[in-house]
Amino acid sequence: MIQTKLTERYGIEQPFVAAGMGFISLPPLVAAVSNAGGLGQLATGAAPPDVLRQLIRATRELTSRPFAVNFIIETTTFGPLTTRGHIDVCIEQQVPAVVFFWTVPPAEWIRKLKDGGCDVWLQTGSINSAQAAITSGVDIIAQGREAGGHNRSTVNLFTLLPNMVDAVDPVPVIAAGGVADGRGMAAALCLGAAGVCVGTRLVATVESNAHEEYKRRIVNATHEDIARTCIFGPEWPDAPMRVIRNRVVREWTGNDTRTPPQPEPPQTIGKTMLGGREYVMPKFSAILPTPETSGDFEEMCLAAGDSAGLTDSIVAAGEVVRKMSEDAERILVTQLGPADSRKAV
Ligand SMILES: Cc1cc2nc3c(=O)[nH]c(=O)nc-3n(C[C@H](O)[C@H](O)[C@H](O)COP(=O)(O)O)c2cc1C
Repeated sequence: MIQTKLTERYGIEQPFVAAGMGFISLPPLVAAVSNAGGLGQLATGAAPPDVLRQLIRATRELTSRPFAVNFIIETTTFGPLTTRGHIDVCIEQQVPAVVFFWTVPPAEWIRKLKDGGCDVWLQTGSINSAQAAITSGVDIIAQGREAGGHNRSTVNLFTLLPNMVDAVDPVPVIAAGGVADGRGMAAALCLGAAGVCVGTRLVATVESNAHEEYKRRIVNATHEDIARTCIFGPEWPDAPMRVIRNRVVREWTGNDTRTPPQPEPPQTIGKTMLGGREYVMPKFSAILPTPETSGDFEEMCLAAGDSAGLTDSIVAAGEVVRKMSEDAERILVTQLGPADSRKAV
């Protein structure tokens, strides 16, 4: 077992955190990761506080192990994604860790969560934001440029991570972006990470709430099929993402630094369910396809990072956690351990 500040703090076996991925990281995936010894992370998307409470309870029915809750701090066409009500639910439910993304949350929320016994993490690619946040007692997830989904980072993880570790020392740093096998996990730990945060690899798992066609496209993609674009998101405009290149991404290459205006008359690309209601997906919709989605996959937002190129099968999430962790440990012990214990792997 690899022990780090992360495993010690949460009493987990592996320094493995599942990314909290909107629409994808629902209770089955969260529980599968936690049950395998990692730290699952529940995504809230646009769920209101009472639905968040139900999701936390549903996760607890599937696991007695710790897991985190993910919040995006942004106002979208669905309104503010995170409110004081969400924070209150986390405290009431004694969630061990809350992860914020995109913007630094209000200091009052951080204080409330910490006073209520919840750890607070911020996912960021910015050393300045991280240094400001740690003064409020926040821990850091460093997001590299290769990470899937929404991503503002301008630097790859191999450069960002050691710089971040030094900049916020002794605060623990978790590494996010491009980690999809034991080699990447071992490398991140060598660069000073307390653990890894894995997204894309977990989209292509049995328990993920992604549509089967979306999982299949991740499995078939190489890193050359991944693009950075802002075209998606009338719901959340002008936010850069890493996605799989399909027809709509190819058509807008070179003209993709802002979300394009909605066409007149309005065009739709499919339908899905959001919060129990049918949602007709406008052109460029940033809503990720789930089993409830139908429509044209050449027009959809298929969020994925460069590590799609390391993802070649759809397997159980627990297998991903166990295999990555075992391989990382073997590399760390047999290749990098004391000289007399080294052997070829
Ligand atoms: C499909 C998908 C959806 C994501 N949604 C979120 C989200 O809702 N909140 C968040 O904090 N990060 C989100 N991310 C980013 C992850 O937290 C993380 O930075 C990233 O997955 C790590 O890189 P990787 O995809 O190479 O593993 C998402 C990533 C993916 C691939």
